[in-house]
Amino acid sequence: MTVIGNVESATVEADPDRYRKMAPDEPERTGELVCRPAEVGDLEKIVAIESAVFSEPYQFLMLYQLWPMYKAGWTVAEVDGEFVGYALFLQSADTALLLTYAVADSFRKFGHGKRILQNAMRHRGTARRRLVYAPPRCKDPATARMLERLGFRGIDDRRNFLHSDSADYEEIRDGNLTCRRARYSDLARIADLEAAVFEDPYRFLMLYPLWFLHRRLWTVAEIDGRLVGYALLLEERGEALIFTFAVAERCRRLGYGEIVLRHAIARSRSAGTESITLTVKPANTTASRRFERVGFVKTGAEEDYFGPGEDRHLYSIDLTSNISAPPAARAAL
Ligand SMILES: CC(C)(COP(=O)(O)OP(=O)(O)OC[C@H]1O[C@@H](n2cnc3c(N)ncnc32)[C@H](O)[C@@H]1OP(=O)(O)O)[C@@H](O)C(=O)NCCC(=O)NCCS
Repeated sequence: MTVIGNVESATVEADPDRYRKMAPDEPERTGELVCRPAEVGDLEKIVAIESAVFSEPYQFLMLYQLWPMYKAGWTVAEVDGEFVGYALFLQSADTALLLTYAVADSFRKFGHGKRILQNAMRHRGTARRRLVYAPPRCKDPATARMLERLGFRGIDDRRNFLHSDSADYEEIRDGNLTCRRARYSDLARIADLEAAVFEDPYRFLMLYPLWFLHRRLWTVAEIDGRLVGYALLLEERGEALIFTFAVAERCRRLGYGEIVLRHAIARSRSAGTESITLTVKPANTTASRRFERVGFVKTGAEEDYFGPGEDRHLYSIDLTSNISAPPAARAAL
């Protein structure tokens, strides 16, 4: 374990051969415990345990946003129909990362935690070469010991991330802006900007595991070393999602939002991404116009997504052809 600020932050890797075998996605019973793939209706129960267990719990909307892309890696468990716990893996091309994992207080000390994790690793984390646990939210040494017993071992630490920060982050100048991939050392500044801009911001501890998996598609923009904005994407099998995008208040209406988006799109296209989707509040016309200007088209809406009476609009862009992009966007891509 290494310490980032006052946060424990070891990253560990499992022995890939041990968990490589795939099994069918059927419920698996061990004694009274039944482990099964998560369903969307489980998310509220997961969030209830999250809130009881963690100081910075994952909120419903965050999990719901991740759900379509990552549900194949999410395991839940029950005893007699009562919700016991979960292990949620996020998967990228070569890695499955344990995003969060918990057992409700009243079901602890029965060995359920170990069984849930074993089931999740066998059934829903195994097609990948590497299983990773990035537990900065978890300060419980017992969890770390259990992971070690299951074959995880340490691979990375803060020094490795900071070291990798110096390599391969080609900076592109665009007018006043310098755009590049997000580094580990950007995460705290991104979290600060998130907190300044959004009611329900992504915090450092949430950004960290997502960055670990998807950093090659995270674009930040700076002026004189100060963070001005970012567009952060998650990608799975060619389909990407802009999960957050913002420009600092003091730097708005200068065209930076559009520049950041175009760089993010160009980066995704060259990484082989086929399409990008995103969610926007209908009232956020500034953001919607930016998305349309760079080639996104509205593909649908979902009622009450942000709560009663608060819908969302869905946008997407097809990167396999230039036809859907308007001329201004085409020139920039
Ligand atoms: C959405 C957001 C990222 C846009 O950033 P931005 O840097 O202000 O974006 P731009 O400067 O490219 O465009 C914003 C407006 O400024 C205008 N503008 C651009 N350059 C300008 C200039 N030199 N002078 C005057 N106006 C200008 C644009 O035409 C646009 O106007 P419009 O809203 O009437 O279409 C920013 O408003 C933000 O961070 N909002 C809060 C977070 C958010 O809503 N994120 C999206 C969630 S889906």
